[in-house]
Amino acid sequence: MDLHSFRTRIGGMTPSIPPPFRLRPPQAGDTAGAYAVCLKTGNFGQDGEPFYRDDPDALGRVFVGPYLAYEADLARILEDDRGICGYVLAAMDSRAFYARYEAEWRPELCRQFPAPSGDPKAWSRVQQIHHVYHHPDYFCPEPYDLYPSHVHIDLLPRAQGRGLGRMMMAEVLGLLRQRGSLGAHLGVSLPNVSAQGFYRRLGFQPLIQVGEGMEGCLYLGHRLDGPTPASSRTASSQVT
Ligand SMILES: CC(C)(COP(=O)(O)OP(=O)(O)OC[C@H]1O[C@@H](n2cnc3c(N)ncnc32)[C@H](O)[C@@H]1OP(=O)(O)O)[C@@H](O)C(=O)NCCC(=O)NCCS
Repeated sequence: MDLHSFRTRIGGMTPSIPPPFRLRPPQAGDTAGAYAVCLKTGNFGQDGEPFYRDDPDALGRVFVGPYLAYEADLARILEDDRGICGYVLAAMDSRAFYARYEAEWRPELCRQFPAPSGDPKAWSRVQQIHHVYHHPDYFCPEPYDLYPSHVHIDLLPRAQGRGLGRMMMAEVLGLLRQRGSLGAHLGVSLPNVSAQGFYRRLGFQPLIQVGEGMEGCLYLGHRLDGPTPASSRTASSQVT
């Protein structure tokens, strides 16, 4: 099946992004705008700006920067006339991606940002992320061989609820499938029930929950090797 056919089937429609929105590969100079999207969706899908005033790029350095640097071919930037308003990012082989992050990206983060000390319960959100710089969690849900890739997607509020997230996910899953990935996983924080509804609607299936409450994370997966992608509208309607 060619990429266009897959995108059409996975989304149940031809994914042509409606004006004024445009979806394009990343360019030099996108980092600040993409980091801003990460910040503005960084509080369990809501605006994280009030929590990261001391270091607004704290989240973007982990969840955006390495993907633009190492997996640019799989990244797509959403923009409109006001600027960057979303992205979808992916890693083809998660373990290989994390190995490169560990060797090439994380040392610089640790050099620039000291590990927080004192009582972890008193840490700010910024300190919590700086702790992650020093103590990363490279968890990948099993069976890894079936879900080796992973994805991130975030849209600013003005771009949400228009079908763009579905189209963007179809685009990146199509790219992963074209490259031969058998499946993709993602992690979503438990409080972000809206995003969980979105992923389930697109046919992502729960794989494992790690932790509970505000600290918990649900991992979902999407197979890409089947003859009929599970996220066609018909199939996804049965999941929701
Ligand atoms: C979550 C997010 C990516 C979804 O993108 P979106 O463009 O708003 O979603 P779409 O409009 O493309 O919705 C696609 C489908 O999911 C459904 N959907 C969306 N949110 C849903 C929800 N909370 N519950 C159930 N279904 C939902 C839509 O009804 C639509 O179904 P349809 O195409 O069959 O009619 C986007 O809202 C977002 O970036 N939110 C803030 C950041 C965030 O939470 N990111 C995820 C972090 S893990």
